[in-house]
Amino acid sequence: MSDPAADYAARREGWRTMDLDAARRRVDALVPELNRHNRLYHELAAPEIDDREYDLLFRELEVLEQRFPDLRRADSPTARVGGAPVDKLPPFEHRVPMLSLGNAFSADELVEFDERCKRFLGDDAPAVIRYVVEPKLDGLAMELVYQDGRLVAAGTRGDGQTGETVTHTVRTIRTVPLRLDPAGDPPPTLSVRGEVLFELAGFEAMNAAREARGEKLYENPRNTAAGTIRQLDPGPASRRPLLFMAHSAGEGIDAPAHSVLLQRIARLGFQINPHNRVCEGIEQVVAAIEEIGRLRHDLPYEIDGAVVKVDDTALQDALGFVTRSPRWATAYKYPPDRVQTPLDDVEYSVGRTGVLTPVAKLSPVRVGGVTVRNATLHNEHQMQRSMRVFDQAAGAARVDADGDELRTGLRHGDVVVLQRAGDVIPQVLGVIDAPDRETRPLHAFPSTCPVCGHEVVREENPKEPDKVSIRCPNRLGCRAQLEAALRHFVSRRAMDVEGLGEKLVTQLVDEELVARPSDLYALEARVLENLDRMGRKSADNLVDALQQSKARPLDRAVFALGIPLVGEATARDLATAFGSIDGIMDADEAALLKVDGVGPDVARRVLEFFGDPRNREEIGLLKAAGVEFPEVEVHESAGEQPLTGMVAVITGTLPTMSRDEAKALLTAAGAKVTGSVSKKTSFLLAGEAAGSKLTKAQDLGVPIIDEAGMMRLLGGAALGEVADG
Ligand code: IVH
Repeated sequence: MSDPAADYAARREGWRTMDLDAARRRVDALVPELNRHNRLYHELAAPEIDDREYDLLFRELEVLEQRFPDLRRADSPTARVGGAPVDKLPPFEHRVPMLSLGNAFSADELVEFDERCKRFLGDDAPAVIRYVVEPKLDGLAMELVYQDGRLVAAGTRGDGQTGETVTHTVRTIRTVPLRLDPAGDPPPTLSVRGEVLFELAGFEAMNAAREARGEKLYENPRNTAAGTIRQLDPGPASRRPLLFMAHSAGEGIDAPAHSVLLQRIARLGFQINPHNRVCEGIEQVVAAIEEIGRLRHDLPYEIDGAVVKVDDTALQDALGFVTRSPRWATAYKYPPDRVQTPLDDVEYSVGRTGVLTPVAKLSPVRVGGVTVRNATLHNEHQMQRSMRVFDQAAGAARVDADGDELRTGLRHGDVVVLQRAGDVIPQVLGVIDAPDRETRPLHAFPSTCPVCGHEVVREENPKEPDKVSIRCPNRLGCRAQLEAALRHFVSRRAMDVEGLGEKLVTQLVDEELVARPSDLYALEARVLENLDRMGRKSADNLVDALQQSKARPLDRAVFALGIPLVGEATARDLATAFGSIDGIMDADEAALLKVDGVGPDVARRVLEFFGDPRNREEIGLLKAAGVEFPEVEVHESAGEQPLTGMVAVITGTLPTMSRDEAKALLTAAGAKVTGSVSKKTSFLLAGEAAGSKLTKAQDLGVPIIDEAGMMRLLGGAALGEVADG
């Protein structure tokens, strides 16, 4: 047996001493070999070498590329990782618009779709239409553009015309070919469309880890894929299990049929779905859709339906489009998955503001492709009064003589019906009826806080009796609320204290070093360095970070206080309306209600918060510790602004400012800025080289203004005075 460490050292020595010619030959062999192993691993799930061997080959390539940068190839697997972040996502114009699909929800509607196609084709309709049925991939729609066989750009769908350029993140996805396979005879320009998917197993593992750390769970794989791809930093995309699956082409391939197009795409190196089926006639389509429905939850990624496409390109062309969808294709949506499982218990989690949320603890069950153990029940009303009654999971809910659904509360020993419609957190729809149900006790809210034991209070809202909240009023005296308040206080959007993670917060509370946010500022490095996983260096860094956080702008410091219902936007509104922390603290109800974005509920919570002497004392302590709450200039914005109620769209290049700057000006003046022109648009702000949005505005008679017009509008001119024509 060889010694791995010695073996590695010897290999590394070889990489370090190789001359340029030898290195060139080696790189030219390594790149295709690594790409082949990538494909074997990620697409075919049939690796030929183990991870360590792969890592060694990869490391060798990295070393050679570092030594001889000229040898870096565009299709090198190293080009997928560690790219530089971009400043912002530039727009991505689709040369051929990305369309949407009509829907069918039943076999009957599929038959109608087939009949519609035949009617439209008239005499040209074949007796039996050939279709392709494909899983409808539930991911982020993406277009990849290749020039001379190389990936040059990747863009999201956006509004179908203009999306965002995300080449930097998409190129890190292993199943996105950076270079097309020459064996597939790549056209000079090609755009391929498909979906970016988040692999389910990786998604579940990521959420399980987050749950173990007490962090918020990602909602679903699709949004997480989208969030990962739309980041400026390609790092997370390169580390997460994303995959790209192709389902159509924008331009570059003329094929006589969709099935042929798919084969060509596959030969160029793209992954296409293995469950795509060619079907002769609509009966076969219905059967294929049922088959995909059965497979659905065993797939390693999410699908939300099936897509049916007319195969023959000539028939597609004859059928054409209705507004934004092709007549030759439709999407079939599967009903959401329902299962039943025993309710083991109801536990209560205590949030940052003390609200107790009931959480159903379930016998683990798979629903919609994920394993579920918990489901939140929102509030007392939902738990005790709004559960439906089912005979069995898939059956209809029971109704009374008037046809209204029966409603009941959760009882000990119940079996519940769960539904998962797309988001990871499933809904508890109701309970399965049983003869002894009524004899078993209802699940009832505890009268004391499950964390600190303080008596809870009921907060009823006479206007919304369904929304009673039950709270532990013990604020910083309740461990759950204290930790949550501290985590919020130091979070990135609040005081942004780097290096103060959840585990450390827990430790600080455990060690009784911190009992409220202001205590953080008294922490000393010599005490911190004795904590677990802390050294002198990280202790010094943390003290520095805390020091820096004292100067955060007023709005963030206000947000950091964790006033119920006061999010970032409201904190900003309060800061600009009152200008100082004292101004906000002393505002009365009338003054608060004048602030944009503050309604009666928010005003009440703000008054309550600052009415509590403990909170006023804490603010005093924060100030004494050096937190600046820097004052800001007050904008007399209260009430109407010049553009309140207006909906604006911006297009083209403006003469003196970026579109983002124009958007900021319009938003500050009270307008809403949206991405597409419709009848509701109040005006279009058009610059140089405006395209389809300008035409659409003209068609709809939407007023069009230029930058100078906008400036006059902001100065108080009327829209009629500044619009063209
Ligand atoms: S074909 C005009 N095929 O669904 C043809 N689309 O509702 C439309 N989608 O934005 C594209 N799986 O991103 C096609 N197998 C599939 C698909 C699929 C998912 C998405 C696609 C499109 C949306 C349309």
